[in-house]
Amino acid sequence: MARAASRSVGIVAALGIVYFFGLSGLLRAAAPAGNSVVYVVTPTHDRLTRFAALVSLGQALALAATRTNILWLVVEDADELDPAVSRLLADLRVPHEYFTSHTSGKGEHRGVQQRNAALDLIQQRAQAGVVYFADDDNTIRSELVSRLARIPRDSFTVFPVGNQGYFGLEGPVVDTSHATDTSAQARIVQWCCDLCRRRWNVDMAGLAFHSSVLTLSPRLAIRFSHESEPGFLETDVLSLVEDTGAQFVLSQQLVDAVYVWHDSTAPTAVAAFYDADWVTSAVLARRPESKEQIVRGFSWAQDSLPSATWVP
Ligand code: UGA
Ligand code: MN
Repeated sequence: MARAASRSVGIVAALGIVYFFGLSGLLRAAAPAGNSVVYVVTPTHDRLTRFAALVSLGQALALAATRTNILWLVVEDADELDPAVSRLLADLRVPHEYFTSHTSGKGEHRGVQQRNAALDLIQQRAQAGVVYFADDDNTIRSELVSRLARIPRDSFTVFPVGNQGYFGLEGPVVDTSHATDTSAQARIVQWCCDLCRRRWNVDMAGLAFHSSVLTLSPRLAIRFSHESEPGFLETDVLSLVEDTGAQFVLSQQLVDAVYVWHDSTAPTAVAAFYDADWVTSAVLARRPESKEQIVRGFSWAQDSLPSATWVP
C-alpha cells in the first residue's frame, strides 16, 4: 500500500515535471525572447480621424503582442485623458500606459513634448528594450514589431515608410543581396525622399533604436527639439543618436518591403508612383546610376553616413 502510494506519488511527480517543462517550453515558444520589450511611443490629440486610426494601429499591436513584449506609451496632448481612448486601450488588451503631456506653447512641430515625455519614462525604467515612434496616423503590419525587437543593444536602424516621398515611400534604398552575411557591411548609397537635403531621409515611423542608446553618452540627451527646422525632427534626433557612438544596423526584411505607412487614408501630394505589393526591389531597379540621372524623389546619401551591419 505504502509502496503503491509512493509509486503513484513518483508517477505524479514525474508527470508534473514533464508537464512543467513541457508547458514552460511551450510558453517559451509562445512568449517573447528574454525580457526585453518594444516601447511603441504614440503622441495623440483629439481629431476626427484619430479614433479609427488608433483602432487600426492598436489591433495590429494586439496581434504583435502575442509574439513580442510590447509596452505602448500613448501620450495625450491635453490636460486630461480622453475616456474613449482609455476604453479602447483597455479593450485592445495591449500592455500600455496612457498619460498626458499637454504641449505648452505650440511650436512648429507636433508631438515633440509627448515623445520626449515618453523618452523620460523609458529612461527611468530598468527594463531595456527598443524604442519606436508610431504616430496615431500610422498603419503597421504586425510583423514590424518582432523585426524591431531584434535591434541589439547600443544600436539604431532606419527603414522605408509608405505613402511618403515621390516613389510612394520615403527612406533608404539598400541593396540587400549580401544581407545573409552578418559580417558584411552595408551602405546607404541613395534615398527615396521628398526633402532630400537631410542627412537621414526618414519619416518618424522609419527609425528605431535600443533604449541603451539613451544613456550611452552622459553628455547627450536624446530628445526631440522644437529648434529643429521643419521636417528635420527625425534627422536631427538620428544625428544625436549617431553622436553617442551607437552602432548602425539594417534589417533585411524592413528594407526589402514596407511594413509601415504614414497617413494611409490620404494620398500625399508628392507621391507619384507606388508598387502595389510594397516590395522595394522595383524602386531599387529604378535607382539612378549616376548623379546626372538623379530625378526628383531620389538623392545620393552623404559619404559620411556610417556603414551598417545586418541584423541577423
Ligand atoms: C510630421 C511627422 O510625421 C511627425 O512625426 C512630426 O512630429 C511632425 O511632422 C513635425 O515635424 O512636427 P504630420 O503628419 O505633419 O507630422 O503631423 P501629425 O500627424 O498631425 O502629428 C504628428 C503626431 O503628433 C501625431 O501622432 C499627432 O496625433 C500628434 N499631435 C499632433 C499632437 O500630439 N498634438 C498636436 O497638436 C498635433
Ligand atoms: Mn501624420
